[in-house]
Amino acid sequence: MAYEPPQLEVYINQFAAKTFAKPYHREFVNILNLKGHERVLDYGSGAGGPASLIAKTLKKGNGFLTCVDISQRWMDCAKKMLSKYENVDFYLGHIAKLDIKDNSYDIVGIHFVIHDIPAESWPEVTSSLASKLKTGGLLYMREPVSDIQQAENMMSLFERAGMQRVYVKDVKVPLSSRTIEMCMKK
Ligand SMILES: C[S@@+](CC[C@H](N)C(=O)[O-])C[C@H]1O[C@@H](n2cnc3c(N)ncnc32)[C@H](O)[C@@H]1O
Repeated sequence: MAYEPPQLEVYINQFAAKTFAKPYHREFVNILNLKGHERVLDYGSGAGGPASLIAKTLKKGNGFLTCVDISQRWMDCAKKMLSKYENVDFYLGHIAKLDIKDNSYDIVGIHFVIHDIPAESWPEVTSSLASKLKTGGLLYMREPVSDIQQAENMMSLFERAGMQRVYVKDVKVPLSSRTIEMCMKK
């Protein structure tokens, strides 16, 4: 069963995405280094903060964004936030079960999502995400971690799914515990 947020949490997130969290969403979207023509999968799109910035950039170059989330309420939120963009589609459910074509994305973005997922599901999630990328495609992730071992575990799973490490580093995100940013290449 997906966690469905109470309406208050939704309002707070929507407010955050339009105000104080926006610079951090922008910072994440900047590292994706989008030219505009890419196909991007935003995993765990939530209220649509990073997704709306990605969609705006992709609109300029005929790129395309797919938003995936497990929660109906967050998905409704993202749909509302992105309603003015035509270059976006939305998938609700488990990435391993969704009818999304393999080898079809240039970039996967994951912003503060994996910590919400039980560790026993990580192998399936990481291999499904890797399968959606084209060869040479890049996966960028920002996640709060308890220690570096947790980041190592995530990277090892992506490696097992046939990806290589590009970099991992600590980043400062206000109100978040230790946060790492990583990039993996297929
Ligand atoms: C903390 S929010 C982050 C939302 C967005 N990425 C952002 O930075 O604003 C985490 C999101 O991940 C979603 N999520 C949790 N488990 C998921 C899963 N197994 N598959 C897809 N999305 C999931 C939640 O529903 C929620 O929308």
